[in-house]
Amino acid sequence: MISGSIGPTLIGKQIVLGVTGSIAAYKAVALLRTLLREGAIVHVVMTQSATKFVTPLTFEVLSGHPISTEMFEAHQEMKHLSLPEQADAIVIAPATANCLARAALGLCDDLLSTMLLTAQCPLIVAPAMDGGMWDHPSVREHIGTLRSRGTIVVNPEIGSLASGRIGQGRLAGEGTILEAIQAALAPRRDWQGHRILVSAGPTQEPIDPVRFISNRSSGKMGYAIAEAAQARGAQVVLVTGPTALPTPKGIEVVSVVTAEEMTKALSARLAWSTTVIMAAAVADFRPSHPAMQKIKKQGRAAGQTIDLERTTDILASLSAQRTTQLIVGFAAETSDLIAHAKEKLTAKGLDLIVANDVTTEGAGFGSDQNAATLIDRQGAMTVLPLMPKRALADAILNRAQELLRTRQSGQAPKPVAGGR
Ligand code: CTP
Repeated sequence: MISGSIGPTLIGKQIVLGVTGSIAAYKAVALLRTLLREGAIVHVVMTQSATKFVTPLTFEVLSGHPISTEMFEAHQEMKHLSLPEQADAIVIAPATANCLARAALGLCDDLLSTMLLTAQCPLIVAPAMDGGMWDHPSVREHIGTLRSRGTIVVNPEIGSLASGRIGQGRLAGEGTILEAIQAALAPRRDWQGHRILVSAGPTQEPIDPVRFISNRSSGKMGYAIAEAAQARGAQVVLVTGPTALPTPKGIEVVSVVTAEEMTKALSARLAWSTTVIMAAAVADFRPSHPAMQKIKKQGRAAGQTIDLERTTDILASLSAQRTTQLIVGFAAETSDLIAHAKEKLTAKGLDLIVANDVTTEGAGFGSDQNAATLIDRQGAMTVLPLMPKRALADAILNRAQELLRTRQSGQAPKPVAGGR
């Protein structure tokens, strides 16, 4: 670490450093060295005009990676996809007025600007230009657009400019840019002090000692929520049906098999919890009289039937017993997604429901990705496109956090007992 850097670590973080055509491009060399000293792995992407100020070789030697400038370089993979996919953050320093305009408008005629359309990670821009340009309404508008989309803008500093004038346009100091990067990459701890009960996976309802009724749930969504909540500071208990997933580190895991066991495990911990997120796919029916011995086929005709009985609706029962817990449920649907999800939200007395069309290609059971619509009790909907389950987990936690804050500020009705 460089002396004086006391921010969160950048060790092992993958950073794409975008350099555009400003006289301040030479300062990106110092920034690159600082990021490397902080332990980051840095890939530099230059615009053509940046190469007029500093040679790519300088960045190449220092970063230890080839420098990318073009979209279509011979024998190279699709860098506009691969670089942002691996990146923890994209930092553009210096960012010219032209670069900001193209980023705001979504123009993509070179590698750097195209990457901005595929990136999911935080974007930090450090503009540098002449003072008059920084104050121009067009630049102000583009900066406003970028900020409204979550881009972190490190404002330029006031001082003497390359033009000889004094004004605001000098690239922010290396320390200031570093702090912005560290802040963007620091883990959020917004669930600290919360106790979250998460359920995951399927249940298995025995027919006999070797057979059972179950469903296709892999448990991935519930595990992703448990891991995301823990990473954000919550104490988490994960009650899980049988899955093939590794036990998440630092999370108390309670393994169950049947809906009845899951009911008991969750009910026993309801009073402890401040939030319940029910991602498990609980069997709605179980064999009424599971056989004590393996059912033999000999002497049995075709057309055998198994008598089934209803299991407890765990979510409705937790909701009916709750005191102040925020309760989040899922709706796994194959048709009329929103209507069915709204019915479940009301019938089960939930604060939030994650409506999940399990027929969407690439989403749902077993997949690492999922798409969902979040619906709260006031009917507000958040449509979330196909994304990794971990990202969806964070989006669910963001919405739940907003609901808790609204409740704390007294703007929302107190929880009501739900159930049927
Ligand atoms: N759930 C539950 N107990 C059950 C069944 C479901 O707690 N016995 C929970 C699920 O964990 C989920 C929500 O209720 O959070 C909705 O589950 P889903 O399977 O979508 O709906 P069901 O209520 O089972 O209704 P249906 O199967 O008729 O769609």
